Amino acid sequence: MSYIQLKNICKKYPNAEKNSVTDFNLEINEKEFIAFVGPSGCGKSTTLRMIAGFEDITGGELYIDGKLMNQVLPRDRGIAMVFQNYALYPHMTVEKNISYGLKNMKVPSDEIKRKTDWAVKILGLEEYRYRKPKNLSGGQRQRVALGRAIVKDSKVFLMDEPLSNLDAKLRVSMRNEISKLHRELGSTTIYVTHDQVEAMTMADRIVIMKDGIVQQVGKPLELYEHPANKFVAGFIGSPQMNFYNVQIDKNTVKFESGETMPLPENIISRLEGKTKDLILGIRGEDIKLESQNIELYKETKQSAVVENTEVMGNENNLYFNFGGAPTVARVSKYEISQIGDKIDFVFVPSRIHFFDKTTEECLF
Ligand SMILES: Nc1ncnc2c1ncn2[C@@H]1O[C@H](COP(=O)(O)OP(=O)(O)OP(=O)(O)O)[C@@H](O)[C@H]1O
Ligand SMILES: [Mg+2]
Repeated sequence: MSYIQLKNICKKYPNAEKNSVTDFNLEINEKEFIAFVGPSGCGKSTTLRMIAGFEDITGGELYIDGKLMNQVLPRDRGIAMVFQNYALYPHMTVEKNISYGLKNMKVPSDEIKRKTDWAVKILGLEEYRYRKPKNLSGGQRQRVALGRAIVKDSKVFLMDEPLSNLDAKLRVSMRNEISKLHRELGSTTIYVTHDQVEAMTMADRIVIMKDGIVQQVGKPLELYEHPANKFVAGFIGSPQMNFYNVQIDKNTVKFESGETMPLPENIISRLEGKTKDLILGIRGEDIKLESQNIELYKETKQSAVVENTEVMGNENNLYFNFGGAPTVARVSKYEISQIGDKIDFVFVPSRIHFFDKTTEECLF
């Protein structure tokens, strides 16, 4: 049986014109790590706060461990939450902020000490242990907020962008710490982020939202390889998937700006006769410039002039205009094209996606 169950959960704020969350359905297994992702304002925090009990549920049912939670008080739901706007007690030290909840729960003092020491250590807060929040940086405060939640041994952890104020390096190390922590504690976790890398690397399953509506639920690679629609395809993966308005003529793709690209019969046949109002999508890493690949996929060969480059160290991004749309190819670091260079490239046919232009649904 699923541990947390959301059934047609809706939220309409009292003065709002429309729902902030509409018909959210999800079954979360015990010990699962779920990430909610989506652009700003899509309803991630609202959904999390309804699960926590800080926001009324307008419609639908929420179950935790088989029990209906809609009317249950937050403190009786058995959850620990790290808020997006974490509020620390200003007059308490880091240590006291972390241990305060345990004291309230009448945990024995040696256990409070053991847990606080552990949290302070793994969050790298030893140096700041006796400081008050006003003398901490935003990232340090965020770690205190995280500490306050992780000492509680809750069966459910809800985290709302807990790493958003950390610098890039700390973010990566905290990402690992949270994943490790999750494996050790085995708590069912819902983690809200708008950072798709965080979602991809940490979550067992990802829920992608847009305008209060779930777009797709799946394992990270499922979303990457088999996006349900253009929104998901564009949201997951960096740089973003390239999209082109195209038509099909026999076995040939016709781009808006006139280029043509013959594709193998087995790919065209999957369109089941649809020839118009199509969007072709291909990821940057599936556009190839090396001679072996150009030879292998020579039917799809095209050319363009490089307009910008991003040298990432481990790889390069080449930007150019093709098919009536801005295009980015992710190439190896040994591919050192310069701005103004004319390049030849191919699309790997089996990696091409097609979307219905009207519904934006992914055809394959
Ligand atoms: N108290 C409120 N009253 C009215 N509308 C609200 C309230 N809180 C949030 N909203 C609206 O509900 C929608 C969803 O907000 P929510 O905070 O859940 O988004 P989010 O996905 O967490 O975004 P972000 O990534 O920016 O944190 C937004 O359109 C927001 O303006
Ligand atoms: Mg939010």
